[in-house]
Amino acid sequence: MDKIKIIGGNQLNGKIYISGAKNAALPLICAGLLTDEPVTLTNMPILSDIKSLNALLTQLGTEIEEQDNKSGKHESKTYIYRTKKFSSLIAPYDYVRKMRASYYVLGPVLARVGHVELSLPGGCAIGARPMDIHLNSLEQMGAKIEIKNGYVVADAKGGLKGANIIFPKASVGATCNILMAATLAKGTTRIENAAKEPEIGDLIDLLIDMGAKIEGKNTSILTIEGVKTLHGATHAVISDRIEAGSYAIAAAITKGRIELVNAHAEHLQTPLNILRAMDIKVTEKPESIVIDARNALMQGQDIMTDYYPGFPTDLQAQFMALMTVVPGASLVTENIWENRFMHVPELMRMGANINVHGFASAIVRGVKRLSGAPVMATDLRASFALVLAGLAAEGETIVNRVYHLDRGYEKLEEKLRGVGADIERIKESD
Ligand code: EPZ
Repeated sequence: MDKIKIIGGNQLNGKIYISGAKNAALPLICAGLLTDEPVTLTNMPILSDIKSLNALLTQLGTEIEEQDNKSGKHESKTYIYRTKKFSSLIAPYDYVRKMRASYYVLGPVLARVGHVELSLPGGCAIGARPMDIHLNSLEQMGAKIEIKNGYVVADAKGGLKGANIIFPKASVGATCNILMAATLAKGTTRIENAAKEPEIGDLIDLLIDMGAKIEGKNTSILTIEGVKTLHGATHAVISDRIEAGSYAIAAAITKGRIELVNAHAEHLQTPLNILRAMDIKVTEKPESIVIDARNALMQGQDIMTDYYPGFPTDLQAQFMALMTVVPGASLVTENIWENRFMHVPELMRMGANINVHGFASAIVRGVKRLSGAPVMATDLRASFALVLAGLAAEGETIVNRVYHLDRGYEKLEEKLRGVGADIERIKESD
């Protein structure tokens, strides 16, 4: 397995290009299953999660054409998805266990052809991750759902029907799945307590371009009037707010200055305000955000994760890494996932002073300096937190299990080296 080696202590300065958003791209790919016409997605990030979902769609019968794009130094992909007809209605365990977001095939395939079988993804490192909201909502729309041999078997032979659905939690995944399903249902679906993350707005934009009738974008009440068929469309994926936030923290933790090109500040207001409260200069430009921490007198800050526009859980681990080297105490509270402090013991191996209270809170007391160590994490964002700690630490840090990072951070070493980090990938065979 590849590793990443970092020699800490360099101040990072320069520009980093922010890629298309992984968590927007995944449901957008599955929206293509709603039509027999081509759906073209541009600004697609080059990530293993995208490859895994593409492999699943190929197995369902989708034809995928891939094009390489280059603008300046930045490379991205364009994918053209076309599912004229399905060759299989089964999303097998081997695909779903690699990529939880495979569950996005559920709503679209069921809505288009009235049957789908999806291996239940099971829990993962950050929590139990149930699918009850997705399944209960589809049942309210007339689907018959059974769990058999680890699979969700869903039937809606006469088609799905519109329903009034109230989500008990503002789940991102359930909002995307039910939105997609409702576009082809008979009648009107109303979702209350829908998630409002920008990735959902991006999905709504594509669905509307495909002919869907949806009202309520960026609000917690979505109304979808079902149509008979959807058609093809072309769509550019929004930029990745979590990647941008992660590199903003890289500027902060190395007391440097990074311009996040192609980042959208309106999607990051809560984390940017925390950086501002730490005396870091944050300049919002139309096509970029500049994070300047060179003269910042940083102090610990409390953060509490919440649904959008609250503080994103996907930036909690990275912020905690920053707090380990900032003077004063910080209280970090995780409200979305029940097991998202797996980075804590690894940060402590690097000299961090962290006390976890129960399942949801941790007090971090800033230390003068972390020291490099071999570390590993159990999920994507926790792995990035260890990269950040390595950038700030004295000496050498080796981050193991790099495959987590490859799921969600495109060209990580290249981007960080471009702003002055001493970082390299050690290939398995080296
Ligand atoms: C999405 O996961 C993201 N993944 C996650 O990012 C992110 O952490 C999460 O939203 C919250 O923002 C993708 O977009 C692919 P949820 P999702 O359904 O949709 C509970 C990353 O690092 N819940 O909004 O799976 C659930 O247990 C990943 O990029 C139910 O109880 O998250 C959690 O406590 C990690 N029943 C809360 O809701 C359900 O049926 C929010 O989950 C569904 C969810």
